[in-house]
Amino acid sequence: MKGAIKMERVKTGIPGLDELIEGGIPEGMVVALVGGAGTGKTIFCSQFVWRGVQNDEKVLYVTFDGNQAVKSIKEQAKQFGMNLDNKKCDVRSFHPHEAKDVIEKIKSVVQHRGYKRIVIDSISMLNAYQMLRDVVDNTQNEGNIEHLRNKMRLNINEIRELGVTTIFTIEDYEGMSSADKIAEFAADGVIKLTTERAMEIRNLYIVKMRETNFELGTHDFKFTKKGIALLSKDSPLKK
Ligand SMILES: Nc1ncnc2c1ncn2[C@@H]1O[C@H](COP(=O)(O)OP(=O)(O)OP(=O)(O)O)[C@@H](O)[C@H]1O
Ligand SMILES: [Mg+2]
Repeated sequence: MKGAIKMERVKTGIPGLDELIEGGIPEGMVVALVGGAGTGKTIFCSQFVWRGVQNDEKVLYVTFDGNQAVKSIKEQAKQFGMNLDNKKCDVRSFHPHEAKDVIEKIKSVVQHRGYKRIVIDSISMLNAYQMLRDVVDNTQNEGNIEHLRNKMRLNINEIRELGVTTIFTIEDYEGMSSADKIAEFAADGVIKLTTERAMEIRNLYIVKMRETNFELGTHDFKFTKKGIALLSKDSPLKK
């Protein structure tokens, strides 16, 4: 198309996924990775940052679950052949007390260190801590759903302003908070992971990816030695 600017695409690191989204996530976009407990969110995120490290990019992986979580993220990644104990890779946990200005903190480290990829695992946890913070501070906003939803939108807009391609996870469960739900609307892209226990199948599907002609449909995936990989229709791994 005349005058069209070619959009740079960031490879996800998930075999089979980039082909479904025109080659990768549009650079600078903010993508929500939504899934229930144990669906593979953290492994997906590890593959995303690991792909960056392999490109010689600096990457930031943020969690809110403490140093033990940092250790276990690295341990789990190691099982899939990814070494996140790498000087290009900053895996860190922000303390719940920092929840109020965690976005400010992320902003300042990103500006100083020039990260090319960010993971926030999970934004549900950040949201929960921010809510708790309101209670502790005894602000008028305590329990105000509209306030929390607006805050979530603001958080995501601020992350987008960094211009760094970002994946944040959302914990999907019955009765999930409406602030978490709003995050799907505010994000540029939404990818969902599900497990169909009865059929022993893990699925991935793309709900949205702005400025991308993505493939609808549900895609089966498996854990291989290197992590999550989508299965093509005629894959021998497919049962
Ligand atoms: N080495 C492995 N080989 C095969 N499957 C594995 C391996 N390690 C983990 N898994 C699978 O991956 C799942 C956990 O993946 P992950 O930690 O990415 O999920 P999650 O969605 O982040 O979970 P949570 O809700 O606890 O944050 C486990 O439940 C297990 O089924
Ligand atoms: Mg996880």
